[in-house]
Amino acid sequence: KKSGVCILGVFVADTAYVAKRLPNIGETIAASGFSVGPGGKGSNQAVAAARAGANVSFISKIGMDAFGDLATKTFASEGIKASLTRVPDMPTGAAFIYVNETNGDNAVIVYPGAAGSLSPADVDAHAGAIQQAAVFVTQLEQPATAALRGLKIAKASGVVTVFNPAPAETFPTEIYRFCDYVIPNETEAASLVGFGLENLSDARRAGDFFLERGVAAAVITLGSRGVLYHTSTSSIHIPAFSVGTVIDTTGAGDAFVGGFSAALSEAFDPVRAVTFGCAAAGIAVTRRGTAGAMPYRSEIEVLAKTAAN
Ligand code: RIB
Ligand code: NA
Repeated sequence: KKSGVCILGVFVADTAYVAKRLPNIGETIAASGFSVGPGGKGSNQAVAAARAGANVSFISKIGMDAFGDLATKTFASEGIKASLTRVPDMPTGAAFIYVNETNGDNAVIVYPGAAGSLSPADVDAHAGAIQQAAVFVTQLEQPATAALRGLKIAKASGVVTVFNPAPAETFPTEIYRFCDYVIPNETEAASLVGFGLENLSDARRAGDFFLERGVAAAVITLGSRGVLYHTSTSSIHIPAFSVGTVIDTTGAGDAFVGGFSAALSEAFDPVRAVTFGCAAAGIAVTRRGTAGAMPYRSEIEVLAKTAAN
């Protein structure tokens, strides 16, 4: 019987600098904080889903270096089953993260390292992990050809598919046909649909764009404005939870995707799964960091219970 969540994606070491602003070209400014920790969208989503209570497996490629050791240590301590290939002559990925000291806004440069060479054949090698899962999740930090192969394998064996088109990159539009859920944020949605998402009616038009291309449901995350859950039969706006001061929004989308997918794997009704994901993200933004900021199930449940819907 299928169970749990299988995630195909990227692990990187996040190097996070907290500062008042970004430096200009040629300028050096002092940071007020620094940390190194596990990151990468797929890996963050895996940690979020595991802490939310799911059995999680993670498919990726890393190097045989210190950051690669950080990856294996992270998966071991989070109880994530790692289907990792370690490549001798490539580095593990890394990300430069700027966090605004005042409002928690972020800017990121990510280098996928060995995971940048994830191929359809690499995904085939771990097909079993995908086929055994109740839910399969992927993003776009590794090549889109690998994402497509994973989604195809999942769809062919009746696994629920979640596609997070992040970061905003072009990809073969064929991908949409293999998505039960597409989860872009407002920036990613805007770049895919070709217009800005100023309000809920724009978001609904964006949702229609995805439905027309073959996805079963569009789940568009709108930052502090919450989430739009949009299908051919319903379009529901779920407000964001606000829980205290926003410290660091990096990885909030990953908290949502991980929480949502964990809930789906337990056959939550999709709107309840969205609420659960929103609660996970609402907690994550009150903590510094990405993977380390992901909340545990008991915390998510307490907050999700306060939802109006
Ligand atoms: O979504 C947040 C993540 O994006 C960070 O952890 C960073 O690694 C980048 O990949
Ligand atoms: Na955070």
